Amino acid sequence: MAIRKRTTKSVAKRHDLDYFKKGSPIRLWQWYLAAGALVLAVLWVSISGFRSANAFSAGPISNSHAVFGQKCEVCHIPVVSGAGWVPVIGNRRHVPDSACQSCHQSGPHHADLTKVTQPCSSCHIEHVGSMHLAASPNKGCTQCHANLEVSKGIPSVAAHIDSFTKGHPDFRPLRLASMEVKEAAFGLKFNHADHLKQGLSGPPGKGPVTLKCASCHQIEDAKGRDTAHSGIMAPVSFENSCRSCHSLEFDKATAEQAPHTTSAEALAFVRTKEAILHPNDGEALNKAETILFREKCALCHTVAGVEMFPHMTNAVFPTPAVTPSKQPDRFFSAALFSHTAHSAVQCEECHADALKSTSGKDLLLPKIATCQRCHDGESHPQGPVLSTGHAESGCYLCHEYHEVKPHQVAVAQGDEKQNPAFRIDQLLPSH
Ligand code: HEC
Ligand code: HEC
Ligand code: HEC
Ligand code: HEC
Ligand code: HEC
Ligand code: HEC
Ligand code: HEC
Ligand code: HEC
Ligand code: HEC
Ligand code: HEC
Repeated sequence: MAIRKRTTKSVAKRHDLDYFKKGSPIRLWQWYLAAGALVLAVLWVSISGFRSANAFSAGPISNSHAVFGQKCEVCHIPVVSGAGWVPVIGNRRHVPDSACQSCHQSGPHHADLTKVTQPCSSCHIEHVGSMHLAASPNKGCTQCHANLEVSKGIPSVAAHIDSFTKGHPDFRPLRLASMEVKEAAFGLKFNHADHLKQGLSGPPGKGPVTLKCASCHQIEDAKGRDTAHSGIMAPVSFENSCRSCHSLEFDKATAEQAPHTTSAEALAFVRTKEAILHPNDGEALNKAETILFREKCALCHTVAGVEMFPHMTNAVFPTPAVTPSKQPDRFFSAALFSHTAHSAVQCEECHADALKSTSGKDLLLPKIATCQRCHDGESHPQGPVLSTGHAESGCYLCHEYHEVKPHQVAVAQGDEKQNPAFRIDQLLPSH
């Protein structure tokens, strides 16, 4: 067997264990260089610190804050007031919410149920050069919603949402709309399938027509409305979309039509006209009223007691009760949706059921799977740009977070603190 002469012990003995106690020219140089670098760094820090705070900056400020981005102390509130940015100890690394709130009064988010409060900067991430600071990353939301806990009771909403494609429930109206909800929401009798048939008989004297969605549905002009309403479909209007085919004539002796207002006004109108056309003719009046309410109004509305009409005499004729149409402005209460943003997509892609719907009570909203074909989970609120074939899927795209919009509070309270009037030179860098 071969004898091993080189043991670890013998090898270790070759090293001088006291080497660090002796000086050497190389090590002296190392000391000089290190000390020199430190002095230079301190010099550079102080000089550039006096000239510009950029030397410490963590990255470019968002577009909306860029104008006062050099005035670090607006957000990094100094510990020693007036210390400015220069003496590093004089400034806070962390930005307290109160700094943001000196300019923004942001509404809370389910304050009565949340267990924890999140700092503003956990969602609105500064120093990444964001173009749109409100476009916050999902983790700001999923820090609670991935495992939602509430301070009392159990959550009334889905408790495990990781992203729009993982754990997000289908939309509330589709899950919860019971028959009662639908009855309450939709007052009109309306048959989409019949009206979308090719070659429908058109207005009297005109040939057959084929209606399109846009014959009755138009994106509402947002003017005069809250911006949260932009991109919704305007309620269908009788005057613009129905009267041409469904006239409100009530007597062959005249081409005049009843106004489409309240039943009381329609009734008064018919009575005034009949008094001129057929004075003191109770039967003619009764016939006119019957045509109008039983054949016309009741085609589209539920009219209480309409079956009694032909048997009523003028004296006891009550104002018929017409169930109004109740077209909701919005079906979603907890999310926004804009038709304008989807104007490249055909209506039937999202509302396929409209083509075969025979009742005004049908709910024609798309399911979440339709949305997920494009909003498929990819989200880059602060860049890089999305890869082609995807639409942004961040929570912020569809949801509002602050229950009261920051600017609304500022206006509502009229408090000067909400609207700090800085002088321009207080915001711009000093040159
Ligand atoms: C609009 C407000 C705002 C302004 C103005 C601002 N910052 Fe910040 N800064 C922040 C926020 C928010 C953070 C994140 C800190 C936190 O976690 O609280 C931050 C973090 C930092 C950090 C720490 C980074 C880290 O990783 O912890 C540095 C350094 C910094 N800022 C430097 C600057 C400098 C220098 C300026 C001036 C040129 C400046 N900031 C101006 C809001 C601001
Ligand atoms: C000196 C006043 C001031 C301070 C301090 C300030 N902001 Fe702003 N902020 C503004 C102004 C002005 C705008 C642009 C007007 C607007 O959109 O309300 C703005 C816009 C915003 C926006 C929306 C703009 C966008 O691009 O989406 C967000 C979000 C925001 N600030 C969050 C914050 C946060 C978080 C802080 C604290 C780290 C903060 N702000 C500190 C003045 C300030
Ligand atoms: C600090 C925890 C917390 C954070 C962070 C948080 N939420 Fe919530 N959220 C809650 C609580 C609590 C509720 C109420 C749950 C309930 O009603 O049982 C709620 C409810 C909701 C609802 C349902 C609203 C309704 O009308 O029923 C939506 C939508 C929502 N949050 C979206 C978001 C979005 C988007 C974000 C991120 C920008 C976010 N949340 C961040 C705690 C949080
Ligand atoms: C593409 C749009 C879209 C995106 C992205 C999106 N949501 Fe939603 N979310 C909706 C709609 C629409 C509803 C239904 C609202 C209603 O019925 O009032 C909803 C409902 C909710 C609800 C209520 C759930 C319930 O049980 O009724 C919560 C909570 C919620 N979203 C959180 C989130 C969170 C967190 C994210 C990000 C991870 C997110 N959403 C991303 C559109 C979206
Ligand atoms: C002749 C007019 C007319 C045409 C054409 C028409 N609609 Fe409608 N639509 C209505 C009326 C009226 C209502 C309200 C029904 C109610 O209140 O019960 C309505 C309601 C709706 C609703 C909301 C109600 C719900 O249940 O979700 C959707 C969505 C809708 N229509 C989609 C379409 C689409 C898509 C087309 C084309 C394929 C179309 N409509 C064509 C008259 C029309
Ligand atoms: C282009 C002409 C035209 C327009 C515009 C039109 N309708 Fe009709 N409507 C018809 C015709 C034709 C019928 C008979 C259809 C059938 O029986 O096949 C009808 C039938 C109806 C009926 C009876 C139920 C059924 O079988 O469909 C209702 C209710 C109705 N329309 C409501 C409306 C409402 C509400 C509007 C406006 C939003 C409207 N219509 C616009 C032509 C029209
Ligand atoms: C061809 C269908 C049709 C006929 C016939 C019709 N309506 Fe309407 N009615 C509508 C539509 C569509 C709306 C909702 C849009 C609007 O207000 O123009 C409406 C709305 C109303 C409203 C307003 C309530 C609301 O929802 O805003 C009243 C009141 C009303 N109708 C009464 C009548 C009376 C009274 C008659 C008979 C004289 C009548 N309607 C005939 C289709 C009809
Ligand atoms: C990308 C899917 C999508 C497309 C495409 C689309 N819709 Fe919608 N539509 C929706 C959603 C989601 C709602 C419910 C929004 C809400 O009310 O909060 C809605 C609601 C409606 C309503 C009820 C009123 C309202 O705005 O809430 C009508 C009417 C309607 N759509 C008609 C149309 C017509 C007509 C077209 C084609 C021009 C169309 N939609 C295209 C998704 C779509
Ligand atoms: C054909 C693909 C496609 C489908 C299907 C689709 N979206 Fe979108 N959506 C887009 C694109 C593209 C944008 C613009 C994204 C942006 O601005 O970053 C958008 C924007 C949005 C916005 C922001 C609107 C705004 O004005 O800022 C919301 C909210 C939204 N979609 C919700 C939905 C919902 C809910 C559905 C399902 C009912 C849906 N989308 C289906 C492609 C789609
Ligand atoms: C859990 C995430 C989250 C937190 C924490 C948060 N925000 Fe927001 N904030 C959002 C989202 C998402 C939006 C965009 C949607 C909206 O308009 O509500 C937004 C919008 C804003 C806007 C722009 C609103 C507008 O009208 O354009 C301002 C300003 C703002 N936040 C300031 C703050 C301030 C100040 C704080 C701290 C007190 C704060 N936010 C805390 C998520 C958050």
